[in-house]
Amino acid sequence: MREKSPYDLRASARGIYGFFEMMTAPPKILAKFRLNGDEIECAFHPNKTLLEVLREDLGLTGTKHGCEMGHCGACTVLVAGEPVLSCLTLALECEGSEIETVEGLARGGNLHPLQHAFTTCGAAQCGYCTPGFLLSAAALLQVNDQPSNAEIKEALAGNLCRCTGYTKIIEAVALAAERMHESSDA
Ligand code: FES
Ligand code: FES
Repeated sequence: MREKSPYDLRASARGIYGFFEMMTAPPKILAKFRLNGDEIECAFHPNKTLLEVLREDLGLTGTKHGCEMGHCGACTVLVAGEPVLSCLTLALECEGSEIETVEGLARGGNLHPLQHAFTTCGAAQCGYCTPGFLLSAAALLQVNDQPSNAEIKEALAGNLCRCTGYTKIIEAVALAAERMHESSDA
C-alpha cells in the first residue's frame, strides 16, 4: 500500500476540520442583496465572510481567495460602489447593499472596457489577481474618468500581482480610461 504523502495528510486534516466546522456552525440566515444588478436572496451561516458566501453559497468563483488576511486584494469586490476586501467583510454586514463582482463587469455580452484593455496590454498572466485589479480600477473610473498614473497607482495600491510587474496593469487602466472618456464624448 502507498505511504500517505504530506498532501494526503493535509487533505484528511481539512476533511476533519470541515466536518467539525459543519457541526459547530451557527444556523443559516436568509439575507437579501443586490448582486451584479439582480435582487437575490441567499441562505448562509452568519459567521461567513462575503468571500465565502460569494464563492461557496452563490457559486461566483471569479472573486479570488488569496491571503484571507487583507494583504493581497485578490478578493476585492465593490459594495455600494466602494472597493472592499471580501475576505475581511462579513456577508451579513452587506445585507441590502449593492454588490458588484467581476462576473458583473461584462454587460449584454460585451466585455467592460477594462477587460478589453487588460487583454490589449497583456496585463494578466496567471490571472489570479486580475478580478481584484479590475474591480479596484472600475471603482476609480466611476469617479475619475481621466486619472493620472499616480492616481491609478494609488487606487491599485491594495492589490498585489506576482506576475506582471504592474506596468502593464497601469497602462491597461489608463487605456480603458482614455477609451471610456472618448466614447462618453462621442
Ligand atoms: S484574500 Fe482578501 S486581501 Fe488577500
Ligand atoms: S497575473 Fe499572476 S498574480 Fe497577477
